[in-house]
Amino acid sequence: MSASQAAVSAGFEWTDDYALGHESMDDTHREFVGCVDAMLRANDSALAAALATFADHARRHFAEEDAAMQQTAYGSAGCHIDEHAAVLKSLDEVRAAFDQGHVGVVRSFAAALANWFPGHASVMDQGLARWLVQRRLGGSPVVIRPRSSMPA
Ligand SMILES: [Fe+2]
Ligand SMILES: [Fe+2]
Repeated sequence: MSASQAAVSAGFEWTDDYALGHESMDDTHREFVGCVDAMLRANDSALAAALATFADHARRHFAEEDAAMQQTAYGSAGCHIDEHAAVLKSLDEVRAAFDQGHVGVVRSFAAALANWFPGHASVMDQGLARWLVQRRLGGSPVVIRPRSSMPA
């Protein structure tokens, strides 16, 4: 086995570095990591199912974030929505190539997704999560201080 195959078969694991503090987004992101991991680890006979599961996940994941941005008039929605669309476009291309018998393209796609996700989550998804949490809290930042430091 070559070094690159070994790296791919190592899979993709969730780490709390990816946590954003928005419960449903974090749940969705754990699912994303699991779907990508399944594509990386799948043998040839399991690859079609793993790709289909990821496709269902990705459409729902990105649609939910896009809707949250549009419904709350989020100011930085444009490039975030474009990035989701670019991933879905790649997904369509990968599915077409896979249907023509190009099995390896799915593993390359999964490896690219594993490289893409940490940056997307830490910048675009983190920005959206902060915005949504702040709105839920009425727009005022909540600061919790120990009682002893409260003004009398
Ligand atoms: Fe996300
Ligand atoms: Fe996103």
